[in-house]
Amino acid sequence: MRNYYIAGNWKMHKTRSEAAELARALVAQLKDGKYKYLVAPAFTSLETVGAIVKGSNILLGAQNCAPEEQGAHTGEVSVLQLKDLGVQVVILGHSERRHIYKEDDELINKKVKLALKHGLEVILCVGELLEEREAGKAEVVCETQTVKGLTGVAAADLGRITIAYEPVWAIGTGKTATPEDADVIHAYIRKVVGKLYGADAAQNIIIQYGGSVKSENAAQLMAKENIDGALVGGAALKADSFVPIAKFG
Ligand code: 13P
Repeated sequence: MRNYYIAGNWKMHKTRSEAAELARALVAQLKDGKYKYLVAPAFTSLETVGAIVKGSNILLGAQNCAPEEQGAHTGEVSVLQLKDLGVQVVILGHSERRHIYKEDDELINKKVKLALKHGLEVILCVGELLEEREAGKAEVVCETQTVKGLTGVAAADLGRITIAYEPVWAIGTGKTATPEDADVIHAYIRKVVGKLYGADAAQNIIIQYGGSVKSENAAQLMAKENIDGALVGGAALKADSFVPIAKFG
């Protein structure tokens, strides 16, 4: 039975003191929460937030990592440096990385394998642009991003992978995919994982939905058979809006 996994991606928001305040509120308010929880602050707040969530039921996540362990990569942050800060999970292939910073599937796959090699969990984000959806290509785009993102990932490591379906047109726009539309893509991604790793793996993999998740729509989304959690952006920036999502149902 898959447990729900609710993650907050804080993106490029919050100073350390603001991040600390939110982290403290979440630790207090989610301590009786039943699901798996993650917060992913900016790199600059990882150490601060890590000290606050340590020993709680909230995991510490980073929003990206470099494709190399170390070396001359100005401006990048290595998986070794993240581990050193207590990071347990890294979000990879977010649409903002793919589309603003032009990360391609090969680069993302390199990061996925490196994060797994160093014992981290990964949230691999996939999702189509509006024009791809309108051209009937949502499934094929998500399939390609899933297959390429997981290339070379051993079956034994799949338990440390979560997939987040984030239709790009629903991110930060207030437009949520309907639960029915999202479930169709989640089911399709599950089928793709099944083709790659077998039926058990398909049954067990957690697939989060991301894109304008709010307390008002969380329960309807989670009620769908193939939606196992949420990767939340805007509504993750305040305890008042994140906690009701994290405690939906
Ligand atoms: P919003 O919840 O703000 O749409 O962001 C979703 C997202 O990109 C989470 O990674």
